[in-house]
Amino acid sequence: MTDHYSDYDPFAWIYNKHWGSFATRIVPVLDELVLDDLPPGARILDLCCGTGQLAHALSAQGFRLTGIDGSESMIAIARRKAPDATFRVDDARDFTFDGEFHAALSTFDSLNHVMDLDELTSVFRNVYRALIGGGVFVFDLNMEEGYRTRWRSSHGYVEDDHACIARSSHLPNERIGKTEITMFFRREDRWERSDVTLLQRCYDEDEVLKALGSVGFVGAKACDGGKDFGEELSRFPGRSFFVSRKPRSH
Ligand SMILES: C[S@@+](CC[C@H](N)C(=O)[O-])C[C@H]1O[C@@H](n2cnc3c(N)ncnc32)[C@H](O)[C@@H]1O
Repeated sequence: MTDHYSDYDPFAWIYNKHWGSFATRIVPVLDELVLDDLPPGARILDLCCGTGQLAHALSAQGFRLTGIDGSESMIAIARRKAPDATFRVDDARDFTFDGEFHAALSTFDSLNHVMDLDELTSVFRNVYRALIGGGVFVFDLNMEEGYRTRWRSSHGYVEDDHACIARSSHLPNERIGKTEITMFFRREDRWERSDVTLLQRCYDEDEVLKALGSVGFVGAKACDGGKDFGEELSRFPGRSFFVSRKPRSH
């Protein structure tokens, strides 16, 4: 049994306020890669769904969404944000559904948080099992170029009742991207500090495609998010979108 993933719990409120809209900004990419070909009312698994922005947007389009995430605090916000969707606290490396979904999505480098290739392969196996025959799996990953160019800065937000600074660094030899986040929340007459460190693992395109093939996915390909999908994503070089399909006969 894998350890339960709950690293986002202390960060959920700030994530929702300042980061979560990325999911909806990539809906045009998802339209092009998968959503335009789905039947009306198709069932979609949102793997590592975070605070539910994508589930909310896709439910509004008539899709039936199920979101899973390892963080109880992220799921609590998602339930409020997307009341038409179904949510479950679960780990991407361990969950089980049997042939239920027309598509599975995992956005905003969620699967970079899975820290070794064996565990990532387990995630792929779980998704494969969750899809119907012909079901499509789309996810994005930060690649080496993304860590090299974007994981080397800090940025922050200061508001009346909270402040937050995120410092990113890249450890190329360990293939790790690290984000250290310090948050301050005003509680009546005092400020409370909270810290969280989020780790991501950098994978090569070839090892990801091979791992998808090893669990049975076919037609696996990678698209360069920085080059293939217009201006919005060109600001994030080094993000690839992986698309693969479960064969119809299974
Ligand atoms: C960067 S956020 C992205 C959230 C959402 N997909 C979005 O686009 O806004 C990464 C999410 O992945 C979740 N996560 C990371 N590893 C996980 C795992 N092994 N199982 C379940 N959830 C995981 C985190 O809890 C977090 O909500």
